Amino acid sequence: VLCESPTYLGAVNAMRAYGVAFVDVTTDDDGMLPDDLAKKLASCRRPKVIYVIPDFQNPAGRCWSTERRVALLEVAARHDVVVLEDCPYRDLRFEGEQRPSLKSLDKREQVVFLGTFSKIFCPGLRLGWVAAPQALLDKYVLVKQGVDLHTSSLNQMVLASYLEHHDIDANVAALRTLYRARRDAMVSALEAAKIEGAHFTRPAGGLFSWLELPERINARDLLVECLERNLAFVPGGAFFPNGGHENTVRLNFSNMPEERIKEGVRRLAEAIRSMSSSKRHP
Ligand SMILES: Cc1ncc(COP(=O)(O)O)c(C=O)c1O
Repeated sequence: VLCESPTYLGAVNAMRAYGVAFVDVTTDDDGMLPDDLAKKLASCRRPKVIYVIPDFQNPAGRCWSTERRVALLEVAARHDVVVLEDCPYRDLRFEGEQRPSLKSLDKREQVVFLGTFSKIFCPGLRLGWVAAPQALLDKYVLVKQGVDLHTSSLNQMVLASYLEHHDIDANVAALRTLYRARRDAMVSALEAAKIEGAHFTRPAGGLFSWLELPERINARDLLVECLERNLAFVPGGAFFPNGGHENTVRLNFSNMPEERIKEGVRRLAEAIRSMSSSKRHP
């Protein structure tokens, strides 16, 4: 599986169960670098899937440019590899123009699109949808039966009833307003904290800002410091299937009210300062 660097931990764990090897493709703020993708595809023995999250990625919050989307499909077509487009955050755009999904650009029936109600209705229901070429869908249905027999009928009925009686678009619009304000609160708190040598993103949508700290700070150690301050985050190293990048942090801004986000960032900065001056973390 060729993936972004970093990429989504849950997908890595799900695919790892099938004995997958991950090849991470160099990725910048606009998406995968097409030349690196082509190079890595050429050197892979049996490339099966290119797995990408083009809209407000988990964990880095990046959103691919249209040019990179087109370039990805061109490279994938040349190598005849399926593209798995995992798309939970697309509707949670706070500003700017929507970019075309890979699926909408796909002329060769090469893209499998995954959508979910987890981020626009309720994560606990674990309900989503797949758009794929029929031949792939037929196999998918067989494999899914082997994995979970059937998606819970009760959960499907709960969702169907919600969609019938409520306006999901209004819900999504309200989420966008709420998360935009929380994104702003986190970004301005990070700016105010002036953490030495740190870089962080200001995503145009989704749930996450990505924080890079000086190399000497290990985010797993930082998490221990932070838990003592009743603060939690996911260390960014977990999102690199081949390891490294232990100085990175995934910050979630969707869950907490603005005041608590500000307090959280204050504690985070305090923990980093305390680690920087401690003998335990030279
Ligand atoms: C990229 C990505 N894919 C999939 C999921 C999970 O979706 P679901 O709840 O539909 O399994 C998440 C949730 O965190 C995610 O970030």
